[in-house]
Amino acid sequence: MDTVLSGIRSTGNLHLGNYYGALRNFTRMQFENNCFFFIADYHSLTTHPDPSILHGNVKNVLTEYLAAGIDPEVSTIYIQSDVPEVCELYLLLNMHAYLGELSKTVSFKEKARKNPDNVNAGLLTYPTLMAADILLHNADKVRVGKDQEQHLEMTRKFARRFNNIYGVEFFNEPVAYNFGQELIKIPGLDGSGKMGKSEGNCVYLKDTPKEIEKKVKRALTDEGPKEFDSVKPDYIENLFTILKVVSTPEVVAHFDEKWNKCEIRYGDLKKQLAEDIIKATDPIRSRITDIENDDTYLRKVTKEGAEKARESAAKTLRQVREIMGFKTF
Ligand code: TRP
Repeated sequence: MDTVLSGIRSTGNLHLGNYYGALRNFTRMQFENNCFFFIADYHSLTTHPDPSILHGNVKNVLTEYLAAGIDPEVSTIYIQSDVPEVCELYLLLNMHAYLGELSKTVSFKEKARKNPDNVNAGLLTYPTLMAADILLHNADKVRVGKDQEQHLEMTRKFARRFNNIYGVEFFNEPVAYNFGQELIKIPGLDGSGKMGKSEGNCVYLKDTPKEIEKKVKRALTDEGPKEFDSVKPDYIENLFTILKVVSTPEVVAHFDEKWNKCEIRYGDLKKQLAEDIIKATDPIRSRITDIENDDTYLRKVTKEGAEKARESAAKTLRQVREIMGFKTF
């Protein structure tokens, strides 16, 4: 069984694209792997979040992942700052991480350019902290988005370097976890490519039915097709793509036929789409409400998650310290 790690940003809400694009697969993969999911709250400190919102952000993310189907009885789900071992490994790895390579990282250069007043050491060593997250459990595979591939590459470099310097074969060189199948890409409602937080075209899992209706109603359309069997423009195809995910094949076939015969009424299509999105996300929405009101449950989940994660982390650190020459009297 592979150890698979997934690091979750501690800001932002989950949207349909996150859910159908990846998360739904996570909930399956947890049965086939030894999975660790953790919320990267230390990483969020590079941008100096207000202390009054830090905890709320972590709670939101934790609640939504649990509601979407990550099972704490099956996987280990924990909060990064509950596992202090990661700080020690971060310190040790930093001794073999060089200014030249850290400052050349694309994400560092980009953030330094955008916020020239806040080029802090945490930002510079973001990749070492991420490597520590991964190597802490000696993960075989890591679930990362495209924008994180360079960080994973650096993790492999740090692992290899550690093994070389100390003449051991201790750390694995972790690879990206792919779901082994085509991932569904959920498009946005604005006719653009994919659904994304920064694009502002999202339906969030925690949106109320009213909000969902409003968002779908505002989706881009036109006067309708002029010729039978014409090719759908992207923004219409996008609505059908979402419909295919949340509706039945019969419903999709019905609207396809209407389109082909130039009889489509976008009002009807949108009404159906909103209704089916609401239906599909309803169980998650109600679990979100249940979980966010249940601090006892959240306390239990995070406590047990931290215990499991610390056990795995302590095992790694014991060996790392020994390899590096630390001894007790
Ligand atoms: N940097 C990742 C992101 O922004 C989050 C993250 C932190 C992470 N540590 C990780 C992801 C370890 C995978 C493994 O999305």
